[in-house]
Amino acid sequence: MARVKVAINGYGTIGKRVADAIDAQNDMEIVGVTKTGPSFGCEMAAKKGFDLYCTSDDKDMISSFEDSRFVCKGGLKDLLSKSDVVIDCSPGKMGATNLKKYQEAGVKSIFQGGEKHSLTGLSYTSCANHLENFGAETTRVVSCNTTGLSRTLVPLYDLCGSLKVECTMIRRAADPGDSNKGPINAIKPVLKVPSHHGPDVMTVKPEIEINSLAVAVPTTIMHVHAIIADLPENHGLTTEKILDIWKGTPRVIVMNGQGNRITTTAEVMEMARDIGRKWGDLHEIFVWEDGVRLIGNRLYYFQAIHQESDVIPENVDCVRALMKLEQSWTESVTKTDQAISRYYNI
Ligand SMILES: NC(=O)c1ccc[n+]([C@@H]2O[C@H](COP(=O)([O-])OP(=O)(O)OC[C@H]3O[C@@H](n4cnc5c(N)ncnc54)[C@H](OP(=O)(O)O)[C@@H]3O)[C@@H](O)[C@H]2O)c1
Repeated sequence: MARVKVAINGYGTIGKRVADAIDAQNDMEIVGVTKTGPSFGCEMAAKKGFDLYCTSDDKDMISSFEDSRFVCKGGLKDLLSKSDVVIDCSPGKMGATNLKKYQEAGVKSIFQGGEKHSLTGLSYTSCANHLENFGAETTRVVSCNTTGLSRTLVPLYDLCGSLKVECTMIRRAADPGDSNKGPINAIKPVLKVPSHHGPDVMTVKPEIEINSLAVAVPTTIMHVHAIIADLPENHGLTTEKILDIWKGTPRVIVMNGQGNRITTTAEVMEMARDIGRKWGDLHEIFVWEDGVRLIGNRLYYFQAIHQESDVIPENVDCVRALMKLEQSWTESVTKTDQAISRYYNI
């Protein structure tokens, strides 16, 4: 069967990772990636053998590549003409302009969490609503935080039939490659209350009642979520049973923090570097076993999210949903994750 042709519009933090994850699969291929102009990121595209295009069709922008050592194959229109689906990894809030271009080119599209749900009217997380997205023209893979919340809450909801959740997102201030974001010496509460993160889960699983607060802290590695979830009466669960559910859930890692001496995000990231994925990524959500406790109907837990990478395999599954390659989300997740593991020889 012919491989699905995938374009990456925006080869930055998310785009370069998604490109590798797609490249690892045997049912899809990268037909090109885009940059605004020549920069160090083009080097990696060249090394990988990905064709390079400009994010724009503007002649001056395209010709800015001419004085560089990078070959630009054309503008966005040229790339779209070769593609079945485009994964938009542009900085947030460019979606409306880009969506128009994709629609004009007759190409399916996947946006990221920096765009609002209203842009596409549909959002995506593998474990929550793969089938709802089956054959869709356009959708949005939810943000790293929303993906993280969905990974642990959806299996719990599926078991209990009702969940009321309050959570606090302790957010990294900037990605490691950002030099223009902060705070660098402050703790910054998000003064829009509740924050958008929790309610965004309802775009993929509306049945979960959830609200959140958020605070940015001076770190570049990971977000931590402090979560309180109220289960229904007669839930029949124990702390141990909940841990067992998560241990059997794809893309969730449950580890004892004190026993393994992994009690901070720094150690979680060090463990991720040991695993051997490029960039030291951790696609899985990390749950501290000894930070989980069910008291009556109320569940308390912490989890950590590698913000740059948990959404990466979701984008692959999302291509399978839009292109009708795989109906079962669990089958897609297995295919995606096995292919990525082989790619990095893990
Ligand atoms: N970073 C995270 O932790 C994270 C996590 C989850 C979701 N997201 C979401 O993922 C999306 C991308 O974020 P990012 O962190 O990858 O951003 P980023 O590192 O700033 O990368 C953005 C990329 O888009 C390119 N670009 C600029 N203007 C464009 C345009 N008009 N059309 C297409 N591409 C354009 C940039 O090109 P140049 O390289 O030439 O400047 C760059 O390669 C956002 O929606 C964000 O909210 C980010």
